[in-house]
Amino acid sequence: MQATLPDSLLSSLSEFIAVRIGLYFPPERWGDLERGIAEAAPDFNFTDRESCARWLLTAPLTRHMNEVLASHLSVGETYFFREKQSLEILGEQVLPQLLQSRRQERRLRIWSAGCSTGEEAYTIAILLDRLIPDPEAWNITILATDFNPKFLRKAAQGVYGEWSFRDAPGWLRGRYFTGRGDGHFEIIPRIRKMVTFSYLNFADDIYPSLSNNTGAMDMIFCRNVLMYFSAQRAKQVAGNFYRALVDGGWLIVSPAEVSNTLFSPFAPVEFPGAVLYRKIANAGSQLSIREYPAPLLFEETNIVPLPAVPAAPVTAIVPASFNAATPVTNPPAVQAGQAPAHPDERGLPLRMARNCANQGSLDEALEWCEQAITADKMNPAHHYLLATILQEQGRHDTATQSLMRVLYLDPDFVLAHFALGNLHQSQGRFRQAQRHFNNVLQLLRRHLPDETLPEADGLTAGRLAEIVTALLESLPQVAVA
Ligand SMILES: C[S@@+](CC[C@H](N)C(=O)[O-])C[C@H]1O[C@@H](n2cnc3c(N)ncnc32)[C@H](O)[C@@H]1O
Repeated sequence: MQATLPDSLLSSLSEFIAVRIGLYFPPERWGDLERGIAEAAPDFNFTDRESCARWLLTAPLTRHMNEVLASHLSVGETYFFREKQSLEILGEQVLPQLLQSRRQERRLRIWSAGCSTGEEAYTIAILLDRLIPDPEAWNITILATDFNPKFLRKAAQGVYGEWSFRDAPGWLRGRYFTGRGDGHFEIIPRIRKMVTFSYLNFADDIYPSLSNNTGAMDMIFCRNVLMYFSAQRAKQVAGNFYRALVDGGWLIVSPAEVSNTLFSPFAPVEFPGAVLYRKIANAGSQLSIREYPAPLLFEETNIVPLPAVPAAPVTAIVPASFNAATPVTNPPAVQAGQAPAHPDERGLPLRMARNCANQGSLDEALEWCEQAITADKMNPAHHYLLATILQEQGRHDTATQSLMRVLYLDPDFVLAHFALGNLHQSQGRFRQAQRHFNNVLQLLRRHLPDETLPEADGLTAGRLAEIVTALLESLPQVAVA
């Protein structure tokens, strides 16, 4: 579409959208920008695009406005098994190797960042389902985030038309979907349950963070998203992804987005037909970029499941993360389990617990955290950290007990209500989730929107209120009624 609004207005508008929403509209895309504003205008009660555009530049951007703009300006194009070449490499080489290395702890965290309507996240879940013969013995997190609530709602429903299967392997629908008789297909509950969808805006949310479960990731898919961002914004997002990954973790972007400048902190790993990025933070570690052979065609027989491992008590999938923004320091002379002697070291167990958790060393993190609790039993923040570690280990019942203890010590500990809401939601207890999310909103009324919440990695009260409101809206109506 040819842009018709004045250049000066489109220029200001594109700058405003880049800063507030994160989408980049260079002059050659001003036609798309104008079309999006024209579509959004009736939602803002305007009959013409120009008045709407001028109003947007002066009005404070509320969550509702942000959502409306996001839904009209973002490109949600996606489908199952998109960009097969990288998926083949992942399914045949990278994931099997990663799963082998995790056979003891049986823990895996993957993030579909910019998930649109969910096809990518479900594709990842299906890949894992075909690789792991005993998924119930693993603690697998697949977090899928987007800033378009309409996309997220559709993703959570998991119902798709023909178009979403346009490049999918032949076996996909028969094995993983149920036909609804109206030309639509619904993802089977086993796969649906593997994915947690939530709202996150790359432009103005904080990540990695404990509050949105975005730390200690093994793999981040961010495909066909950064191409719509300015170079500066994309670099900033790539830096955040680097911090959100564990050492050795992988970043997967689309072939069109491969750029060693943009992803300069990462090591590019070249495969025949695809480049993936890897975080190699610790040069002295055991990580290696090994030689990977050319992938085979993506046929059913190429997926070789791992041998089953003996059953373990870890059975469910729950979001939790750690403050990956905390700088990782070298362990001091004190060992986990030993009381620090010097008064300066009093905060040490808590810091060490966080740092170990950031790196995915959960057993060690637990030891440090228990040490922090022994030294100060009445501190709710210590119990809160313990709960997040337990949650990440898949120990939901004990995590719930720790969160209840936090609320016993401090009934106004807003993040404990938030975590309990997320826990209940991920386990399908929507009524309880709703209750805790409502508590969060009530408690947040005591704070100014710009106020940073304690233990929340810089998250403000206003932002948490927006996130929780979006979560409440996405809870299945039937279960809450
Ligand atoms: C083209 S889709 C890509 C979907 C999927 N990753 C794939 O490759 O098939 C781009 C997605 O990025 C999301 N997105 C764009 N800007 C975003 C932002 N600032 N924060 C969060 N999500 C964003 C859009 O809403 C859209 O769903």
